[in-house]
Amino acid sequence: MNNLAECFEETGKALDYPQFLADVLEGLSKEQKTLPCKYFYDEAGSNIFEQICELEEYYITRTELEILRSAGTEIADEMGEGVTIIEPGSGAGIKVQILLDALLHPRKFIPLEISLDALEASAQELKQKFPRLEIIPHRGDFTDHKDLGNLPLSSDQSERRLVFFPGSTIGNFSRAEAAEVLSNLRFLAGENGSVLLGADLIKDRQRLISAYDDSKGVTADFNKNLLVRINRELSADFDLDEGFEHQAIFNEELSRIEMHLVSTKDQVVRIDGQEITFARDETIHTENSHKYSAELFAEIAREAGLGITHQWTDAQQDFGLFLLKSGL
Ligand SMILES: C[S@@+](CC[C@H](N)C(=O)[O-])C[C@H]1O[C@@H](n2cnc3c(N)ncnc32)[C@H](O)[C@@H]1O
Repeated sequence: MNNLAECFEETGKALDYPQFLADVLEGLSKEQKTLPCKYFYDEAGSNIFEQICELEEYYITRTELEILRSAGTEIADEMGEGVTIIEPGSGAGIKVQILLDALLHPRKFIPLEISLDALEASAQELKQKFPRLEIIPHRGDFTDHKDLGNLPLSSDQSERRLVFFPGSTIGNFSRAEAAEVLSNLRFLAGENGSVLLGADLIKDRQRLISAYDDSKGVTADFNKNLLVRINRELSADFDLDEGFEHQAIFNEELSRIEMHLVSTKDQVVRIDGQEITFARDETIHTENSHKYSAELFAEIAREAGLGITHQWTDAQQDFGLFLLKSGL
C-alpha cells in the first residue's frame, strides 16, 4: 500500500451520526444511565488517554510495555517469520511497535480502529518507522461482525496471523461480552493463528482506584470529555462547568472498576431535541474495567474456544500477557 489517503478512501466510513445518537439516547433512557465507552476516543479523548498512560498512578501501560519487551524474543520464536498482525482497537499504535521490532520480518499490519483520528495518526507514524511493512488501516468496530468480515484477510492458509489485543481492553466487557469478543479474536486469528492479549490482574483496591482517579484529574477530564463530545456532535447542552463530577469505584462483587459521571444537581439535558432528566447524585455509568485472576481469565478464554499456550507477568504480578490458540 503506497498511498495512505487512497486506502482510507477505500476503507473509511463517515462517523455514524444516527448510530451514535441512538446509542446515547438508549443508554440514557435506562434506569441506571449508561454511555458506551467506545465513544470516549474522539481526537481529544485519544490525546487525553495518551496523557493517562504517562501517569504515575496508571501502572497498566508501563507494566505491559515492560512485559512485552522481555517476552518479545519468546513471542517471535513462537510465531516464526512473515506474520500478519491484526490489532483491534489499535489506538496510538505504541505497543505494537515493540512487537514489530521483536518479530522476524513481519509481513502486514492491519490496525482496526473506530476512531479515524487515531487510525490516521498511528498509520502515518508506523509507515515512517517501518517502511517495509505493509500497513492496511481499517476503520471499524471490533464488536461488529460485519466490520470483522470486511477486513482484508488472505484466504491463503499459509498466512500466519497474530491478533494483538493489549491494554486490558477486554476488561471493558462483562463476562459474557468478553467471551464474545474473544471468539471474535479467535475468528480473526484463523485456525493457525494466535491471539496475544494483555489483561489487568486483581490487586490492592486503593491502587486500582488511584489508577482511575488520579491526583492531577486527567482521568476525570477523559471521562467528562464524553459529554463535551456529545454536546459538540449531537447538539446537546450538558452543563460542562459544574453539572457532572467524575467518580471511580471498585465493585468488589464483579471485580471491576466502574467509572461514573455524577450529576451535581437536579437538571434537564437536551440532546437532539429530546429531554433527559437527572436527579442530584444520579450517575451515568461510563466504563467498566474488569480485573482478573489468571485462572478466571483462562476460564473465559476456554468458553471462547481459546487455550493459553504461554503467559507472562511482571515481578509484582500486576498485569498478565497471554498467548492463546484456537482449539486447545
Ligand atoms: C485503551 S485504547 C488502547 C490502545 C492500544 N491497543 C493500547 O493498548 O495501547 C482503546 C482503543 O480502542 C479503540 N476502540 C474502543 N472500542 C472499539 C471498538 N469497539 N472497535 C474498534 N476500536 C475500538 C479506541 O478508539 C481506542 O483507540
